[in-house]
Amino acid sequence: MSSAENTMTEKRELSAFEAKNEAQKLAFAPVVFQVVVAMQRLEILDLICKNRKGISLESISDKTGVSLYGVKVLLEMAANADIVKYLDDHTVTVTMLGYFLNSDEMTRVNINFTHDVCYDGFKFLTESIQNGKPEGLKTLGNWPTIYPGLSSLPERVKKSWFEFDHFYSDEAFRDALNIVFQEKPSTIFDIGGNTGKWAFASCEYNPDVKVKILDLPQQIAVAKANAEKRNLTDRISYFEINLLDKSQKIPKGADVVWMSQFLDCFGEDEIVAILENVRQAAAPHTTVFILEPFIDNQKFDAAAYCLTATSLYFTALANGNSKMYSVKAMTGLVERAGLEVVETFPLIGESFHTILKCKVKA
Ligand SMILES: C[S@@+](CC[C@H](N)C(=O)[O-])C[C@H]1O[C@@H](n2cnc3c(N)ncnc32)[C@H](O)[C@@H]1O
Repeated sequence: MSSAENTMTEKRELSAFEAKNEAQKLAFAPVVFQVVVAMQRLEILDLICKNRKGISLESISDKTGVSLYGVKVLLEMAANADIVKYLDDHTVTVTMLGYFLNSDEMTRVNINFTHDVCYDGFKFLTESIQNGKPEGLKTLGNWPTIYPGLSSLPERVKKSWFEFDHFYSDEAFRDALNIVFQEKPSTIFDIGGNTGKWAFASCEYNPDVKVKILDLPQQIAVAKANAEKRNLTDRISYFEINLLDKSQKIPKGADVVWMSQFLDCFGEDEIVAILENVRQAAAPHTTVFILEPFIDNQKFDAAAYCLTATSLYFTALANGNSKMYSVKAMTGLVERAGLEVVETFPLIGESFHTILKCKVKA
């Protein structure tokens, strides 16, 4: 049973009193979220963390340059949200929650992504669900989906988007390389290769492999520039393609097709069409690897929570019709496209990811 399902079955029903209390927390959750962001960006939280025995409000105000009024309103909310604790009327210390909000890398990446990329656009979630379109995307720019806009996002938004994307995939890549290179590929096609991180990691892992990055033109331009900086131009090639356009065909020639955190960018029918495109290009020996964080295959409740929240980023901002999938759902889509999952590598390394190894159905 997945951790998400576990949570559903094992959680005790709240009393009416508790439920009403939780409902108020949700009603003001965006306020508390912004309090955390403000405390991080005004360096108040870090200062409190560095003074575990307690620090006065006046001292926080002096050291950060934030008015005493500003310090008070932020900390009164933070105390009610269990982020800090008052030792007396004028002195605060950090709680365990505050400590992790300040120091945990995954939390930092998730908060910046939610704040910088998602926050404004989520006001349009209702319309996005109604229309099946990412109605919140207009808060970032004027594209049909977020992907052609990635390289031209405002700098802070871009940084938070890429840190979020890379935080999750970087962790998985180390172990994924060992799995993929068991196939001894001469040529890997990295579909949705983005800035080239997998291609560079592959070239470093194996001195002979050649990688072709397939992606939208905007991302190919970034990947090319990155490859040039690394002197990898003779080992990495490029193929501009819009995989939502069924007339654009993936070329032949791959020993391994690699798709990392890529198929979750599409709706179910689109995934089937992309996998059919992969199948038409595949030779009998070609191995297709799908790396995804699947919602039904997580060790921790927090992971399933993050992933289901990420689905709604796709709804409101990315494209309006994709989501994070379960292993079962993805396996069904693989089969619909005429491929089959021949081996599953669950939860590789310390990461949230599973690799599905696929072949063209005989
Ligand atoms: C979430 S990123 C994944 C990047 C990388 N593979 C990783 O694991 O970090 C998805 C990638 O798919 C590409 N992509 C999205 N829509 C596409 C389309 N219609 N055709 C081709 N590539 C697309 C994006 O440009 C982006 O580089």
